[in-house]
Amino acid sequence: MPAGSVAEATRPARLRPAPFAGLPRRVRIVEVGPRDGLQNESTPLAVGDKVAFIVRLAAAGLAAIEVGAFVRPDRVPQMADTDEVVRRLGALPGVALSALVPNRAGMARATACGLRDVAVFTAASETFTRRNINMSIDASLSAARDVVDLAAANGARVRGYVSTAWWCPYEGRVGPDAVRRVAGRLLEMGCREVSLGDTIGAATPHEVWALLDRLVRDVQVGSLAVHFHDTRGTALANVLTALWSGITTVDAAAGGLGGCPYAPGASGNLATEDLVYMLDGMDIETGVDLTRLCEASRPLAALLGHALPSRYLAAGRPPAP
Ligand code: HMG
Ligand code: MG
Repeated sequence: MPAGSVAEATRPARLRPAPFAGLPRRVRIVEVGPRDGLQNESTPLAVGDKVAFIVRLAAAGLAAIEVGAFVRPDRVPQMADTDEVVRRLGALPGVALSALVPNRAGMARATACGLRDVAVFTAASETFTRRNINMSIDASLSAARDVVDLAAANGARVRGYVSTAWWCPYEGRVGPDAVRRVAGRLLEMGCREVSLGDTIGAATPHEVWALLDRLVRDVQVGSLAVHFHDTRGTALANVLTALWSGITTVDAAAGGLGGCPYAPGASGNLATEDLVYMLDGMDIETGVDLTRLCEASRPLAALLGHALPSRYLAAGRPPAP
């Protein structure tokens, strides 16, 4: 470029200070592969294969694993064996095993198999909530309160999900105030954290920033987590945006599997391998061993009969110097 050209005149002397200084040193990953990853698969996995998968995920260092869902077996047949999966797993030292629980009936099943961590789930848009759990948002919050009360009586901990936190497959764009109302109610009733779901994988970083900017005026950022589906390839960019805004808990699914049967158009979650690769490269601790994580995910391709969406799993480690 010739000296004195326009490009020369507007070129900054150097980049602005890197924004990475504000990122957390450690990120807690909530592994949702055995639940979100498998709930939408057409080939059901045998109980033994699910148990082996979860044990390998734990061996890779994942300390919070969502292992299934106590929902209606006829609505989500892939999760019908959650009771058996939890019983067969028993306690894994240092690992919090959890499952989705929509109502009292689900909580009775969770309690019967001794689960200490459960997750209630609702959404910020009415149509999705009705299609997914056959309730209005208000009715779902009342069902969630029943679960929280039963959990408190049993010494169990409750996480909350707010699906369609940015986009609804039926209603389109969802406003931050609708999310704030539902997330606030879940936290007030006793959920220890609320995970914000980009259910159909449509959010972009500026939308993530706008929602978190709205929420942190009223709730502690430490009580929020993010749950991005990667349908349109924005999940990692959204994670980075969330980390910049103070979030330190991120959901992901081994292999990049996932999708909700009641969210048409949704594809897999952010792949745990892709997340760990990015965070490792940024010196952000996760406690997860990427090689062992890949060993946990890889057998799923043959069991499910298709390739897994994780980009890292396909590409592997870059060449050594
Ligand atoms: P319902 O039909 O409204 O329930 O289902 P009901 O209370 O009217 O009961 C009807 C029958 O279901 C009864 O049996 C109940 O006993 C039975 P009957 O007397 O007719 O023989 N029943 C149950 N059975 C087993 N376990 C239960 C249970 N509850 C009732 N817990 C319900 C309401 C919510 C249960 C139903 O709509 C359902 O199971 N929906 C499936 C929802 C689901 O699993 N969706 C996918 C997970 S959410 C997700 O993926 C999003 C997320 O990843 C975040 C994101 O990405 O945004 C979390
Ligand atoms: Mg999901």
